[in-house]
Amino acid sequence: MVMVSQENILPTHVKIVEMGPRDGLQNEKQPVSTEVKLELIKRLMDAGEKHIEATAFVSPKWVPQMADHNEIMQGLKTLDNTDDVMFPVLTPNLRGFEGALTGGAKEVAVFAAASESFSQKNINCSIAESIERFKPVMDAAKENNILVRGYVSCVLGCPFEGHIAPEKVAEVAKALYDLGCYEISLGDTIGTGTPSKAQAMIKEVAKYVPINHLACHFHDTYGQALANLYACLELGVSTIDSSVAGIGGCPYAPGATGNVATEDVIYMLNGLGIETGIDINKLVDAGVFISNELGRKPVSNAANAILTKR
Ligand code: HMG
Ligand code: MG
Repeated sequence: MVMVSQENILPTHVKIVEMGPRDGLQNEKQPVSTEVKLELIKRLMDAGEKHIEATAFVSPKWVPQMADHNEIMQGLKTLDNTDDVMFPVLTPNLRGFEGALTGGAKEVAVFAAASESFSQKNINCSIAESIERFKPVMDAAKENNILVRGYVSCVLGCPFEGHIAPEKVAEVAKALYDLGCYEISLGDTIGTGTPSKAQAMIKEVAKYVPINHLACHFHDTYGQALANLYACLELGVSTIDSSVAGIGGCPYAPGATGNVATEDVIYMLNGLGIETGIDINKLVDAGVFISNELGRKPVSNAANAILTKR
């Protein structure tokens, strides 16, 4: 007998948070100039992107590629038509937050992990210490009316510890939400997750954080990101982090490749009739621009298929 499962309802609109200029470029060994980063941001905006993570106020010794954060913030002010575009930036501590505020940021992001080992490697402190560090950031953000996103890394596996319990992910997500983060982005930092694991994790987190405040941030190392995203859309997640041309990775997550490519996500969402406001052809052009700068082809099946047909 064939069992017919209850039909899941997909969202009608998905918010895309573009990671290319930050997560995408943070791991590149070759220098990428501020001008090229700003041109990429401009092209992503031209494609209709409204949430573009622009840079990170982290130590330039830890992540040299983000050392031009002040110049990026200055450059954003020279771009046209930015009124309805958000440019979140990473701020691991109060010093980072103050830099972001001086630069004119309206949205910042703090980042924690569901794995103790990754927390130590990435931000040099324990999970509990990181939450303490974020408290003054949250207070300052509230005082200045700045939105704060919260990331949880290693939600579907850790490069050092392997399996991570969904309960641990939920605990850290809840801590960030309780601190005042308006959106919790759940990072499969090393892309090892599979759809049923992704659903189990989301179901556990959603016990504590409403599903419409959750985002999926899946790296595509094992080619599972689209399947995992679809599984999470079925549960009602409607915010997706992705990176144009699939660029990126975390310097402190050995072996991790880029976020799922924005082009692949948009192609899938278009096929599902889910609105994003993003023009896939212009997005492909933005992906070609940055891929040419990096001297390689876009890491996106959809982008390469569209380019072949042109
Ligand atoms: P620390 O060494 O523990 O802190 O670093 P510290 O306070 O002792 O400072 C050390 C040095 O950094 C000092 O400089 C400080 O001045 C400087 P020195 O005396 O050595 O010359 N410093 C700073 N410089 C610039 N901006 C700041 C700042 N704070 C201190 N805000 C710290 C702690 C967090 C700063 C460091 O560990 C760090 O910068 N880590 C960055 C890690 C990072 O950016 N990782 C990648 C992003 S996370 C990610 O990709 C995952 C995500 O995509 C989700 C997912 O995929 O899972 C979000
Ligand atoms: Mg990431």
